[in-house]
Amino acid sequence: MKDLSNYRKTYEKSELTENNIPDCPIQLFQQWFYEIENFGASTEANAMTISTLGLDGFPKNRVVLLKKFNEEGFIFYTNYNSEKGKAIKQNPNICASFFWEIAERQVIIKGKAEKIAENLSDGYFESRPKGSQLGAVVSPQSEVIPSKEYLLENLKKLEKIYENKPIERPKNWGGFCIKPVQIEFWQGRPNRLHDRIRFTLQNDYNWKIERLAP
Ligand SMILES: Cc1cc2nc3c(=O)[nH]c(=O)nc-3n(C[C@H](O)[C@H](O)[C@H](O)COP(=O)(O)O)c2cc1C
Repeated sequence: MKDLSNYRKTYEKSELTENNIPDCPIQLFQQWFYEIENFGASTEANAMTISTLGLDGFPKNRVVLLKKFNEEGFIFYTNYNSEKGKAIKQNPNICASFFWEIAERQVIIKGKAEKIAENLSDGYFESRPKGSQLGAVVSPQSEVIPSKEYLLENLKKLEKIYENKPIERPKNWGGFCIKPVQIEFWQGRPNRLHDRIRFTLQNDYNWKIERLAP
């Protein structure tokens, strides 16, 4: 077995202090997001891990793509009947996190996932390439399927049906918006004395800002 006990890195690229942050965590998220993009990394900066509490009582993480964020929250798209979709229906409390290795940064968002308006999901679905649209239609996400061929054959049939027709968004596919209640920003620092700043929503507008021990 490979010994990983010596795998460690010193984090020293940046610093997070109370006097260089805005009052609103969405603004700080935006600032960090653009900085990550400007690092020129080939990584998908918008890939985030979301965890839900499943119907089986276990938390489950998986990666999805963040497609939009603003003061309202953080939007991703998925199949509403998937394992995560069913988990969210039962318990909308969700956690999303980003690890941006290139900047030695982590962001952890706790919030409530809500389905976005149908017309917004329609708009995003229409903007997707046809192949992705068909993929969403053909895949009963998270269901057990008999084989890969089963999926590919169904895809072929759909390609014929929709050869010259626009594809309508399946009603079970759309966006969720994570409405944040707490956002934590983590900046790696030397000697494991990392900076951690936590924003907690106090009412609809004000965020309490606290520093956490690393
Ligand atoms: C980089 C990356 C991006 C992904 N983006 C999405 C996405 O935006 N939406 C989605 O439903 N699944 C996405 N997936 C697949 C999910 O991780 C997951 O396999 C799928 O949503 C089924 O999850 P569930 O069975 O827990 O519901 C992505 C996976 C990776 C690795």
